[in-house]
Amino acid sequence: MDKPKEIEEILITEKRIERRIIELGKTISKDYKSKNLLLVSILKGSIIFLSDLLRNLNLSCDIDFMSVSSYGKQAESSGIVRMIMDLKEDIYDKNVIIIEDIVDTGLTVSYLMKNLSLRKPGSLKICALLDKPSNRKIKINLDYVGFTVPNKFVVGYGLDYNGKFRNLPYVGVLKIYNVKN
Ligand code: PRP
Repeated sequence: MDKPKEIEEILITEKRIERRIIELGKTISKDYKSKNLLLVSILKGSIIFLSDLLRNLNLSCDIDFMSVSSYGKQAESSGIVRMIMDLKEDIYDKNVIIIEDIVDTGLTVSYLMKNLSLRKPGSLKICALLDKPSNRKIKINLDYVGFTVPNKFVVGYGLDYNGKFRNLPYVGVLKIYNVKN
């Protein structure tokens, strides 16, 4: 696919993403060897990461999906996250990894950790393809991270801007939303 004119630069190439996911797959496979594992993918952004990571796991695991939304996302002000769609399965005693495309303010993952902890999983960890620590509003401990990104508006590989650019095979920076550090 040609690079859309709205994309200022390619931040992380398809090849680098592929290599990093192979590494993450190996690490997670080692950490969860002989254990049950459930990957909880947070819609919509994480689906491409989930599908690539899943195929790099050398163990048996299941998947489930959740959808959440934060009010005042544009203004990044309210910090209120609400559930749009819950998991299908019970997670009691299961080893759960939350799969996210990006952790930005950290508010979404913080809500998810609190919400899922109450269901008494065997263990609960977070795996994010992208970490944007410069924009954090709440302290979060990420267990598995693909790449740390600068404070720029990134799209592609599942991440959108107004529903566009999720299908780019790389992570790119959007021109108009380029925030100066
Ligand atoms: C994005 C992303 C995370 C969240 C991270 O989702 O997928 O879930 O924002 O932001 P935070 O750390 O500031 O809470 P978004 O609400 O854009 O929905 P989408 O995945 O459906 O695009």
